Amino acid sequence: MTTLKGPAQPRYVTGIGTLALPYSSSGRLPTCPIMLKRRVWLEIAAGRIAHISAEDANPPPDAVPDNTFDAQGSLITPGFVDAHTHPAFVDCRSGEFVKRCRGETYQQIAAAGGGILSSMRAVRAASEEELTTLVEKRFRRFLELGVTTIEAKSGYGLTVEDELKSLRAIKKAAQPSGLDCCPTLLGAHTVPPEFVDKPDDYVKVVADEMIPRAAKEGLAEAVDVFVERSAFNVEQARRVLEAGRSAGLKLRLHTDQFTSLGGVRLAVEYEVASVDHCDYISAVDIKLLAAAGIPIVLLPGAVFFLDQERYADARQMVDSGCCIALSTDFNPGSSPTQSLPLIMTLACLKMRLTPAEALWAATLGGAYALGRQSDVGTLFEDFQADFCLWDAPEIDYIPYTFGDQRPAAVFKKGMRFAE
Ligand code: NIG
Ligand code: FE
Repeated sequence: MTTLKGPAQPRYVTGIGTLALPYSSSGRLPTCPIMLKRRVWLEIAAGRIAHISAEDANPPPDAVPDNTFDAQGSLITPGFVDAHTHPAFVDCRSGEFVKRCRGETYQQIAAAGGGILSSMRAVRAASEEELTTLVEKRFRRFLELGVTTIEAKSGYGLTVEDELKSLRAIKKAAQPSGLDCCPTLLGAHTVPPEFVDKPDDYVKVVADEMIPRAAKEGLAEAVDVFVERSAFNVEQARRVLEAGRSAGLKLRLHTDQFTSLGGVRLAVEYEVASVDHCDYISAVDIKLLAAAGIPIVLLPGAVFFLDQERYADARQMVDSGCCIALSTDFNPGSSPTQSLPLIMTLACLKMRLTPAEALWAATLGGAYALGRQSDVGTLFEDFQADFCLWDAPEIDYIPYTFGDQRPAAVFKKGMRFAE
């Protein structure tokens, strides 16, 4: 394909080879979760899809080069909705990667003061401006790679001021980048060193100070907590969720990443917006999430990069009627990738999803996890005109050409993203 050229804010997108439309009115994946329309054109108005032509229709009579973007036979998919990222960090932890290449484990590195605590030290030392600049650069990269809506967590400050600083950096970075961003307070990511012998006291700070302030200052849409042996137990997580609920925020849970401690039952009790990781979830808990209609955010990048054996049983989740999202978990420790196409490849090979299911989970599934399923994640009429053009004949090519697949062009609210 020659370089795609056209107006930055077209009224029409013509010459579409295939338009991929994820669909579901219930959050359950239909057997063929992507509707494919061949040789169509789109009309965009006020940043939304105003019209999709019939297949093989003639181009609109008033289409001229000034108002028309020629897709030259491209495949068009919705922009990705990445429902789980940790972009508010300073340092890349490539030194830890080198240690892991030599055989040290993620847990050993964390126990020796590395891991999340190493990122914490750097975030505490950084100014809000420095952090904003870094997050903005990462948001631009997400857009370049086809992500048009994102969830972004704090979680590397671990004091009231440093968590609020991180959330402000996320908010400030989102505006110029153009990404739609759902910020989440993850003050309960791990217990900071000052509270190592009194974790309940830290939970009290999160519940009584951090959450109310983040809510009052309009800095977070949701609250998250990491339920794990190295982080918080179910009772501590309950206090965090209780505080989040009282503050009127949505709730999320990192759980069953390495062990299953009962986080899923807590998630069901609190009717959380999403349950994330779930590599060690039991078959019984999968059924509970299906019955409760709670989306599961799958993060195979972390399993791969930590060289773990066990991936979430996405096949069983889909077959049980769960809503699944597929996300990068972008963070400097367990998943330093921003590429959802690569995550789709992992989901297909390691979690036995079909490419269509993986695309569904990375678009409409993410939208369900963020509660934006009426607005983004697909491209039917009235949805936001957030889409990617791919130099690919079929959606299978996105996960198939693994490791180097990126869109030929990205549009956000009908406007072409330019690097
Ligand atoms: O989602 N699970 C907890 N936190 C991150 C990793 C954070 C880090 O290592 O910096 C995750 O994988
Ligand atoms: Fe995470």
